[in-house]
Amino acid sequence: MKVLLVNSSGKEKGSTYTVLEYLCAELNKRDVETEILWLGASVDGGCRGCKACGKLGKCAFDKDIVNTLAQKAAEADGFIFGSPVHYAAASGNLTAALDRAFYSGGRNFAFKPAAAVVAVRRGGSSAALDQISKYFTINNMPIVPSTYWNMVHSSKPGDAEKDEEGMQTMRNLAQNMAWLLKSIDAGKNAGVEQPVAEKKVRTDFIR
Ligand SMILES: Cc1cc2nc3c(=O)[nH]c(=O)nc-3n(C[C@H](O)[C@H](O)[C@H](O)COP(=O)(O)O)c2cc1C
Repeated sequence: MKVLLVNSSGKEKGSTYTVLEYLCAELNKRDVETEILWLGASVDGGCRGCKACGKLGKCAFDKDIVNTLAQKAAEADGFIFGSPVHYAAASGNLTAALDRAFYSGGRNFAFKPAAAVVAVRRGGSSAALDQISKYFTINNMPIVPSTYWNMVHSSKPGDAEKDEEGMQTMRNLAQNMAWLLKSIDAGKNAGVEQPVAEKKVRTDFIR
């Protein structure tokens, strides 16, 4: 059982990383494997809407990390997407990467539990969390809960650990992620099949 944790901060080892590293330790304690994927200092822009992915099965813009993310997603059982709060929203890096990874390869994420976590100095965390969760709810992904919204207050690495409630929220999140993953696995072994979504009906109201 493996959780892929995405660090979408421009900083490889900033506050977002500190929180993700803590989550890894909590998951590992519960026999869940982890991998942190840093998106890098820049993702090569958002979705161009070219729709070439429909034929290719992957994003046509292959020079950055987005197709690697999709590939790693296919092999993972669950996800934690980490972001700094930027102007009361997710990082531009995360938005650009997830727009493309989900549009071209949503199947790699579907039916797998997911959570968003944010590192924030002061304000805008709920809006950012809501934004990231939209990818899950349009793609058949169970959302993993905790005992508060998944935010840790931190301006620089070293701050995060001082946010006791934030870190407790992360511990409970890791516990719930492990529980859900193990429950899904136990269900599979007992013959509970993964649902198959109906073929998409697109209703655009312009006819
Ligand atoms: C461009 C930019 C915008 C930011 N906007 C906000 C904001 O809206 N609210 C807030 O509380 N902190 C904001 N911050 C602070 C970061 O969210 C905070 O320092 C976070 O811990 C950074 O995580 P990182 O070290 O992983 O990048 C902003 C930082 C940057 C660089």
